Amino acid sequence: MRQVGGGSFDPQGPAAETISGLWWLMLGLGAAVFVLVAALLTIALFRPRPPGDAEPAAPTSKLHRRWIVAGVVAMPVAVLVIVFGATLHAMRSVRNTAPEGALVVEVIGHQWWWEIRYPDEGIITANELHIPVARPVTLRLRSADVIHSFWVPALGGKMDLLPEGTNTLVLQADEAGEHLSQCAEFCGLQHTKMALTVVAEPPDRFASWVSQQQRPAAEPAAEVARRGRDVFLAAGCASCHTVRGTAAQGTKGPDLTHLARRPTLGAATVRNTSDNLAKWVTDPHQIKEGVMMPAARLPGEQLDPLIAYLETLE
Ligand code: CUA
Repeated sequence: MRQVGGGSFDPQGPAAETISGLWWLMLGLGAAVFVLVAALLTIALFRPRPPGDAEPAAPTSKLHRRWIVAGVVAMPVAVLVIVFGATLHAMRSVRNTAPEGALVVEVIGHQWWWEIRYPDEGIITANELHIPVARPVTLRLRSADVIHSFWVPALGGKMDLLPEGTNTLVLQADEAGEHLSQCAEFCGLQHTKMALTVVAEPPDRFASWVSQQQRPAAEPAAEVARRGRDVFLAAGCASCHTVRGTAAQGTKGPDLTHLARRPTLGAATVRNTSDNLAKWVTDPHQIKEGVMMPAARLPGEQLDPLIAYLETLE
């Protein structure tokens, strides 16, 4: 899978930057305390004992008490106050209320794929989230079955998708790039194969992606692809999948109107190639065991036209 950036170590948006700053602050404070304690321990271990002093003195002197107050009370309190304050600041600046002019996207978790809807644009796609750079995006997160969790480390913020109720997460990408997001809550057998590609792109490229996605599927030009469409409608694919512009209006599985444009199959499990597409259709459980899609054991004279048709869904 293509990916740019180094995840949470390479923040690409304001929320991720705040979270990353907090992480570095905590690492810095932790490291400083560790170095201080290690240095004091080293000094104590190697300090020569006064001659004739068999037992170390009980910690009763004024100096001892000062060390105890500073090291056991003052320092931990100072560190905790700093971390607490920085955490509150980070929590306030990572927004979960929709800002003015934000793009609204609905993300619905399924076992084990992501349904992505753009209600204002009238788009439904799967396993790829396109967002314009420098514009806040309000994600409305929910689940169709069990609890999933949405997390794009480079853009920051992690949020659960629940079967009941909608959670909101606001993200913004400051630079164009592609990020891989992995479901971050164990959600069943194929939890590890539930990934999402996030494509942050300049506004004009995003606009052309939107207008391309808004088009219904075109009538296939080649005769073989038209035969494949008939196979698609007759073999039961249409009872779970939608291809806009055709009689296929199923909603259990991903919308396939622009399947051929997607970089991967099975929620970023394999690349979207003709070979993998044929394997996926005939035996998806070989690629992703336990997947809800049943195997379609089609003879070659039906499979080849079907794949040819699916590849026209640009
Ligand atoms: Cu969905 Cu883990």
